[in-house]
Amino acid sequence: MYYGADYYPEHWPEERWDDDARMMQAAGFNVVRMAEFAWTRMEPREREFNFAWLDRAIELLARYGISSVLGTPTAAPPAWIMAAHPDATLIREDRQPVTYGSRRNYCPNNAAYRAHSARIVRAMAEHYAGNPDVIGWQIDNEFGGRCYCPTCQAAFQRWLQERYGSLGALNAAWGTEFWSHIYTAWEQIPLPWSTTGVHNPGLALNYRRFMSDSYVGYQREQIDILHEVCPGVPITHNLMGFRYPNLDYFDLTEDLDWVSWDNYPRIRGVPDAANRALAHDTMRGLKNKPFWVMEEQGGPTGNATVALAPRPGEIPYWAWEAVAHGADGIVYFRWRTARFGAEEYWHGILDHHGEPGRRYEEVKAMGRIVQRLGDKLKDSAVRAQTAMLLSYDSRFAFQNQPHNPHLDYPNVFAELYRALWKLNAGVDIVSPAADLSAYKVVVAPMLYIVDEALANKLRDYVSQGGALVLTCRTGVMDVDNMVVDQQLPGLLGELCGVVVDEYDSLEDGRTVPLQWAEDLEDVAGGATAWADVLSLREAEALAYYAGEYYAGVPAVTRNRVGKGQVIYAGTVPDAAVAQSLMARLAVEAGVTSPLEAEPGLEVVERIAEKARYLFILNGGSDAISVDVGSGGQELVQDETVSGVIHIPALGVRIIEQPLGNSAID
Ligand code: GAL
Repeated sequence: MYYGADYYPEHWPEERWDDDARMMQAAGFNVVRMAEFAWTRMEPREREFNFAWLDRAIELLARYGISSVLGTPTAAPPAWIMAAHPDATLIREDRQPVTYGSRRNYCPNNAAYRAHSARIVRAMAEHYAGNPDVIGWQIDNEFGGRCYCPTCQAAFQRWLQERYGSLGALNAAWGTEFWSHIYTAWEQIPLPWSTTGVHNPGLALNYRRFMSDSYVGYQREQIDILHEVCPGVPITHNLMGFRYPNLDYFDLTEDLDWVSWDNYPRIRGVPDAANRALAHDTMRGLKNKPFWVMEEQGGPTGNATVALAPRPGEIPYWAWEAVAHGADGIVYFRWRTARFGAEEYWHGILDHHGEPGRRYEEVKAMGRIVQRLGDKLKDSAVRAQTAMLLSYDSRFAFQNQPHNPHLDYPNVFAELYRALWKLNAGVDIVSPAADLSAYKVVVAPMLYIVDEALANKLRDYVSQGGALVLTCRTGVMDVDNMVVDQQLPGLLGELCGVVVDEYDSLEDGRTVPLQWAEDLEDVAGGATAWADVLSLREAEALAYYAGEYYAGVPAVTRNRVGKGQVIYAGTVPDAAVAQSLMARLAVEAGVTSPLEAEPGLEVVERIAEKARYLFILNGGSDAISVDVGSGGQELVQDETVSGVIHIPALGVRIIEQPLGNSAID
């Protein structure tokens, strides 16, 4: 396992570095990430490179057993580059340039910027090629943002030309007949700049796809250089978890060797374990491989304002939780709180003064256990019996037409995830292209855009025995964001065995009570946000609306197809419905938790070749007991356990069992 911090030696006097490295070693660190914002330090003037300081930092850390991941510094362009290329500045939707003064202020399609970026990446790669202490690269930092500049417009037009071939095809696919938007030359096609109303949905969706592709392409340019010059050194990018809305993370991570992401549970509001788990599962699902947390919250967050400090025990708890969900690397942000700059209140493990304190001691205590674990967990995979299908196309389309404030794709997704997560049976977050056959239950919320291939896959999955859960706003659009010409749920109508006769957008937080079928009386809760008024074809009703003008009409249905079943919820089930429904479905579909645990305990299983690791996590504020049967070797306390054990508040236990021993099953 890798364990360490994001380190900015350039922010501190060189005489201090040795103390830092010594304290890092004492905390069990074996890795740092460095340099991702140090472009001007490395290239103060064009083609004048200075890596000497970074060489010294890498070498010093290596003497303490600490390897380095280097970031390419392109997220924060030097003033001298942006002054020389004003047209490389990111342009906002209102066509105003962003002001120099923060970061992520460049256009990803600007040729001059890309040339500068290629130069610094190549120079770094050439300088560090073959250096055994540089064990990985991070490209840029938290890609994101959309640019609306003339360069992007021209690139968008070329991108469309490739996609559609002819203007005739594009006009037909977008329905530009509407309001006389028929394009007679590619150059006429605008970006979705702020205008007097909603843009053509085809244009809006494709612009989002194009922008995502722009970052994928820009990232690939950097990857190609690094692979060419430093073959075999793995490359990552630090992503922003499930909630980041603007990039198709499946596409972005395809070219990467491993996924990493930045986890800040206590930025605002109350930290939510299900949301953290969803983010980890999403990041793991991108490549279906172990991942790293490249920035794990190490102190109170804040820039202009300061958030609540992580409570005692939370920092290591969040880190273990990441490990349970498949992380093989934990890198805290940041080692020491900066004394200057926009983030001087975004705290690290050490405070500004640099003396060890509570947070350092907590990180160090975990470091000892991590050291003892060594490579035990390496290459072990989280075993998930259920999956959720994440469609960035559908998500992007809703950004243009959100329907209603309570019908938010990520929130609906997260609430259904919570219901699955509570089963303690593992959830994989997968793309529409994924093979679903291994999952007992698949939930695909608000699958707005569906093509034939996806419809066929879902049909096969169900007929071969899968349990599929769909919600309202499924099968509404074709791939160009044009409404289908069938009754809804469109291409999935036959599979669902229902027809949506009409629908009702429940604004202002209005809910409609549901009346459950006889054998489902224990299911509680109601319909929120949206109400599909359903007619049954082959399906049976599980719940009826008990209010509004459609009282008595089916709201939630089940269709048995082949060996499987599909549940269609023509609404957004509230949390109570989602949880009781999912619990019942789990029983029917044979979904089992590796351990019978009280609510409040999270159980995750990681499977390696010769052993399995059962993580039991207590994120609450009281101790909870659990019966672990014949148990096994517990790795956090380093003792053999069996029978009833007590997990303290914010406690984690990892039970190792040689494979073949099914005592806990
Ligand atoms: C992350 C970013 C870091 C740092 C941190 C704290 O999003 O990658 O560079 O800015 O947040 O604000």
